[in-house]
Amino acid sequence: RRRVRVHHLQQFKESGTAWPMLTSYDMYSARIFDEAGIPVLLVGDSAANNVYGYDSSLPITVEELLPLTRAVARSVEHALVVADLPFGSYQASPEQALETAVRFMKAGAHAVKLEGGRRYAAHVEALVSAGIPVMGHIGFTPQSEHGLGGYRVQARGERGEELLADALALQQAGAFSVVLEMVSGQAAKRVTSELRIPTVGIGAGPDCDAQVLVWTDMAGMNTGHTARFVKRYADLGGMLSEAASAFAADVRDGAFPAPEHSFD
Ligand code: KIV
Ligand code: NA
Repeated sequence: RRRVRVHHLQQFKESGTAWPMLTSYDMYSARIFDEAGIPVLLVGDSAANNVYGYDSSLPITVEELLPLTRAVARSVEHALVVADLPFGSYQASPEQALETAVRFMKAGAHAVKLEGGRRYAAHVEALVSAGIPVMGHIGFTPQSEHGLGGYRVQARGERGEELLADALALQQAGAFSVVLEMVSGQAAKRVTSELRIPTVGIGAGPDCDAQVLVWTDMAGMNTGHTARFVKRYADLGGMLSEAASAFAADVRDGAFPAPEHSFD
């Protein structure tokens, strides 16, 4: 297997091959997902919740996300590593977006992702002109949670036209793919068939070209409430909890360390 490039993702779309994407924030998860053949890993700003313990993605900074990007980029051989641009690090201008994106590329990312549609076409263009592949992200965009009035399904009914206009603007600006988050399945299907570039769904139904999940949700590290669109493929949280309890019990009753763990 070779390094995954953006043109491979385009080929997947053209051959009708759905592809998976997962978030990753550290070395072990990156290495494991890379070896499992996940072609695209996202160092998401969801690290805000899943690494740093914030209760939304708004507080995370470039300084907090850069080291995680370095860790993931160092740990993969094949996967295309996409880094999210944090809230406040690109909205002001195409120049600000380019400055921030360059920092993530220097940290080892192979592409960046930013939230927003038509209003961010110029930002996307500035990055693409500088040789930086850009993944768009529209529909429910968590960095705009307060502007959108909370976690609500987007692009229902008439609003589907706006989603399509945003997606087309991103494609026109040179984006190589676009995430559709928590949108009506009908709208996602329409956007996917109208776009030349791949769509990556999360809560966007079965008709997108690719699907992404937050790894800690997918693997059951997050034992709290998860969204309807999450499918849990493992109970890592439960397994770690059992391992920690077993270790604690062994220490308390003297079963660990045994002679084989000790030196003469
Ligand atoms: O930060 C993130 O995890 C994301 C994905 C859900 C697309 O942006
Ligand atoms: Na994100």
